[in-house]
Amino acid sequence: MQVIVVGAVNVDLVVGGLARLPAPGETVVGDGLRTFGGGKGANAAVAAARAGASVTLVAGVGADTHGQGALAELRSDGVDCSGVAVLAGEPTGVALILVDGQGENLIALGPGANGVLATEHVASALGSRLERAGCVVVSTEIPGVVALTAVAAAVASDVPCILNPAPVIPEVVAALAAGRLAGVILTPNATELGQLAPEGESTGERAAALARRSGAPVVVTLGGEGCLLAWPDGSAEALAAHPVAVVDTTGAGDTFTGVLAARLAAGADLRAAAATAVAAASLSVTAAGARTGMPSSVALAPYL
Ligand code: RIB
Repeated sequence: MQVIVVGAVNVDLVVGGLARLPAPGETVVGDGLRTFGGGKGANAAVAAARAGASVTLVAGVGADTHGQGALAELRSDGVDCSGVAVLAGEPTGVALILVDGQGENLIALGPGANGVLATEHVASALGSRLERAGCVVVSTEIPGVVALTAVAAAVASDVPCILNPAPVIPEVVAALAAGRLAGVILTPNATELGQLAPEGESTGERAAALARRSGAPVVVTLGGEGCLLAWPDGSAEALAAHPVAVVDTTGAGDTFTGVLAARLAAGADLRAAAATAVAAASLSVTAAGARTGMPSSVALAPYL
């Protein structure tokens, strides 16, 4: 079964090696500029493809050298880019990323083509592909109405859907409140969880509240602490991360989401898929750049 990913494609312009992330108005000197493939949609697509899934990406890039390079890189990872619109007159999305010595980052986004991705394009790209899909992944660095159209199409076709609410956008908050995310697996990090379910005093309480509201399991990614699975019936389980030397945490959440989708599409249950996704996310932070450390299916085999 295929994985379909709907989300952003960026070029990541990265300065790492900073002693600390700068405060507003402060200048901190780091290493030289490095360029990597990025964007939460494209990153999840690559993670799923490396984990062994057959992956189609639905997205938009500009008709520029960044867009050409991004597509070439994605294709070299085996991602089917036939659902990627090349949008004349729009620049490809760019992320400016700062990384400190502990691997923590700051990201500023220039959405470019991601910000003008059209509902019609996404609806038509999903079209008959949904018949062969085992999982649809949607993330929110694209217009909210487009992201929710993709979620609704997956739900209407009874295809398991993962919504990575990164960033949390008003359309997702509204859809949640209106009960329009019923059955959709949400994968927020702790910050996003706090924005989606501000009630409750702990991550566990907030995750339980969110799972009750969405009527589906919530998987909270917790960085170096692994993840928390929370089910609508109030039960929960924590899965620990694997100890690694952290170089760059950029893209760890995307790795998690992409591998979760790949394993669900391969027939794994949610707990088993999350356990593999935690291992993949742990491995992903051991190299600079969002995708460099994403593991292959061979590297993931011990964690299936
Ligand atoms: O999640 C990491 C990604 O966020 C980066 O690759 C960057 O492009 C931003 O979209």
